[in-house]
Amino acid sequence: MATLHLPLDRNVDVPIFRQISDGLRRAILDGRLRPGQRIPSTRGLATDLGVSRLPVLSAYEQLLHEGYLVGRTGSGTFVSKKIPDDLMRSPAVGRPTPVPHTGTSPRERAVPNHPSLTSWHVPVIPFQVGLPALDLFPHAAWAKLVARHVRKETPEQLAYSDPAGLRGLRVAIAEHLRASRAVRCVADQILIVSGSQAALRLTAATLLEPNDRVAIEEPGYFGAHRALRDAGAQLVPVPVDAEGLNVATLERRGEKIRAVYVTPSHQYPLGATMSASRRFALLDWAARNEAWILEDDYDSEFRYISRPVGALQGMDAHDRVIYMGTFSKAIFPALRVGYIVVPPPLWARFLESRFAFDLFTPTLYQRALAEFLKEGHFARHLRRMRSAYLERRDALLHGLALHCGNLVRVHNSDAGLHVTVLLPKGVDDYEMAGRLGRRGIAALALSTSYVGPARRQGLLLGFGCAAPEQLLEATRVLGEVLGS
Ligand SMILES: Cc1ncc(COP(=O)(O)O)c(C=O)c1O
Repeated sequence: MATLHLPLDRNVDVPIFRQISDGLRRAILDGRLRPGQRIPSTRGLATDLGVSRLPVLSAYEQLLHEGYLVGRTGSGTFVSKKIPDDLMRSPAVGRPTPVPHTGTSPRERAVPNHPSLTSWHVPVIPFQVGLPALDLFPHAAWAKLVARHVRKETPEQLAYSDPAGLRGLRVAIAEHLRASRAVRCVADQILIVSGSQAALRLTAATLLEPNDRVAIEEPGYFGAHRALRDAGAQLVPVPVDAEGLNVATLERRGEKIRAVYVTPSHQYPLGATMSASRRFALLDWAARNEAWILEDDYDSEFRYISRPVGALQGMDAHDRVIYMGTFSKAIFPALRVGYIVVPPPLWARFLESRFAFDLFTPTLYQRALAEFLKEGHFARHLRRMRSAYLERRDALLHGLALHCGNLVRVHNSDAGLHVTVLLPKGVDDYEMAGRLGRRGIAALALSTSYVGPARRQGLLLGFGCAAPEQLLEATRVLGEVLGS
């Protein structure tokens, strides 16, 4: 086969193996590598690229795990014939292939530097991170609401809509946030967007200038890294510990930090809840430095040990916090409804950006959702889910104790829909995730969460989308794979 064009850049903070897996994935998706095509041996590619074989092996492992490649190194590795159609139908297919790294602007050149995860489009299997209990969603009640609204749509409702979102939904969300998250807000501050990823991207586009320094949690959420980098931000990793983001380190990283992205209710991925003293310190830092705090409250509805903690936004007296929430975990991700609570002085800027972004969020689900909240379905669903998740989490912890003994250390299991376990020294989490993937288990490597070198190796085990008995079985397989 012709030599693959896989540009590597040694001056960026993205590991070589990740640059290789990104490049191969892109080549598959844009049609340069066809389904069923044999790809070079790891040795051959390593020689072509002038790197050792190890990063190439890791890249192949990752793509085998993600299902882009099939076969085994040794007997040949091939592009999978089963790449999902909608992935193959990516806009680049059938068009001249844009060659990475040839761009002239810093943004074009930055494209290959993204971490390897390029999609949340993943199968619903045990340990999948980021998915709620889709099997327990009250589908009948929801279908009734949606059908009712489809049937009575007026010409006005089929036309363009308010960029801020539907009034009824904004009122219902403001009420929910005040009562259950201690967020200080009124409906006029609520901006409806298509999920928290859109909220982040919009916030970055509204508040940041290219090359602004933005502090992020290390380890932290790769989706946030993506959104911020895409907006031209320079990421400044700040370590997290048992109390959340280390504000003293943030202070030391210099004054010119324009914003900080945090998950204070349930730190992604390690699970800490930010302590009260850190919260006050962070708010104080933001006020003194006129910096923004981007608060991502993605799964705070679910806590198992301690009492729910209010949002950081509710403690902010200086309008520095931009609060973002989503229904992806509390209801289902395909809904694509999230929201931003905008400080009043920023409202006009946000609204204009939101209009420029994609005009407005589809209204049919907004109407159904407003009623889902108002009629009490949402509160009922949350109550049921809390006990279901507690059961699922307990099954996972029980399974880990039973089958994985000293092989893993549970880091924190107080809240949310996943548990992070740390692996013993010397175990490579990417490799482990790859091996588990081939056994039908979807663990996510903790390394995906680091912008700098991964200080810890571990696995994120999602327990939201699988029944207790499936989780128990999955821990048995995990124990087998870890122990072998
Ligand atoms: C920390 C964090 N924020 C946001 C999201 C995604 O939210 P949304 O579907 O609303 O874009 C996820 C998804 O898992 C997440 O882990």
